Amino acid sequence: MKETYIKDILKEDLVGKEVSIKGWVYRMRDMKDKVFFVIRDPTGIIQAVVKKDNVNENIWNDALKFQIEGSLELKGILKKDERAPTGYEIEVKDIKVYDYGQPFPLKGDEEIDTIQKYRHLWIRTKWFVDILKVKHSLLKNLREWYINDGWYEVQPPILVGNAAENTTELFEVKYFDQKAYLSQSAQLYLEALIFSLGKVYSLTPSFRAEFSRTKRHLHEYWHFEIEAAWYHLEDLIKAVEESLKYSIEKTIEERKSEFEDLKSITGRDIKELKDFVEKPWKILKYEDGIKKLKDLGINIRYGDDLGSDEERILTQQFDVPIFLTYYPREVKAFYMYENGDGTVKNFDLLAPEGYGEIIGGSEREWRYNILDQKIKEWKLDSLKIEVGNEEIDAYEWYKDLRRYGSVPHSGMGLGLERFTRWICKMDHIRDTLAFPRLRGGWLYP
Ligand code: 4AD
Ligand code: MG
Repeated sequence: MKETYIKDILKEDLVGKEVSIKGWVYRMRDMKDKVFFVIRDPTGIIQAVVKKDNVNENIWNDALKFQIEGSLELKGILKKDERAPTGYEIEVKDIKVYDYGQPFPLKGDEEIDTIQKYRHLWIRTKWFVDILKVKHSLLKNLREWYINDGWYEVQPPILVGNAAENTTELFEVKYFDQKAYLSQSAQLYLEALIFSLGKVYSLTPSFRAEFSRTKRHLHEYWHFEIEAAWYHLEDLIKAVEESLKYSIEKTIEERKSEFEDLKSITGRDIKELKDFVEKPWKILKYEDGIKKLKDLGINIRYGDDLGSDEERILTQQFDVPIFLTYYPREVKAFYMYENGDGTVKNFDLLAPEGYGEIIGGSEREWRYNILDQKIKEWKLDSLKIEVGNEEIDAYEWYKDLRRYGSVPHSGMGLGLERFTRWICKMDHIRDTLAFPRLRGGWLYP
């Protein structure tokens, strides 16, 4: 079967020729002696007209029976028509009916409750399809940068026996007669794999049972994580800035028409994105970030973690993303490299325009003694796991990585949905993926 897509027939040299397309009814207008359709497929829309005088009675009767989202195959002559939405029109000669369709339950102006119930149908919405395409490009181009730069893609486990992030909540699952958790981060496994492959990355779902309901939290999200041997914090920051700029720049090129649509929906202008690609990104110490916030009259003290409000205000002071570095050790995870002055060698990448954290990264604590102390300090050594007939500390394997040829290394995790939300200038993270996992009846569909 040869596939024909709408984008492939919107061509000058096909005018006057017979074309055929498969798709769904996007709009429909019955004019007594004519039926106007706008047909959509994944690549675009085209107008089609069925004239009563031009087709036999069966075809005419079929045309009248369609509902919005009915599915069909059309054959006809391609014509140019200034009045048609994309400048072309098909004068229909034949219709193959797949499904007339029942009255479609969505009109496009529904409240969130209705959208939630019909999410599986709502995902056909034009602007949401644009978002999915932009997200596809962002991920593809991000991967491309890492592949070109010599990194290996690896597949860490999702069912795990211990927590990567001691700072967030886990989903517990039954694993036969053992307790397991859904992974929050592939990091610890990526750290093991750098001894085999040097520079690695993975794309996995990450699960967070955090209770908070915000516009930037999902309970299941797609996590793009990297880890590299011999990398220090500066090397990591450089790789992150280069790879994100590459991904954004190529995505703007590939998704011109999607961004054109989105401009009227979310207000994202690609000029703004081009600016982010051209300017150097800001590196700011946590300490200086706190000073800045205090100067702005915000009630925050050195030692406090930044919430989404503080991140929003801080990012609004700059016109580029900020690498906020050297956080106090207490507010960050146990595995981060200790500077010895109460801070760790880490960064959060805060997206501009108020969006805030989209990446967390750090140089890892690679010195055995210090890591061992921290595991005890955070009381992570109380967690045991069954291995064969033995019961051992769940973090023993992680400590082994510092016993057998330990090296400096660094890595980061990017939330793909947070990245997409910022790039598309969206309000809520739930519309950056088809089937978001949120609390309150969001397991359906
Ligand atoms: O800052 P986090 O918790 O860091 C880690 O998991 C590290 N182990 C990553 C690493 O170094 N390999 O999460 C990393 C990123 C956040 O910056 C955010 O973009 C995203 O994951 N993220 C979420 N995205 C959507 N919903 C949530 N509930 C998220 N929690 C984190
Ligand atoms: Mg974080």
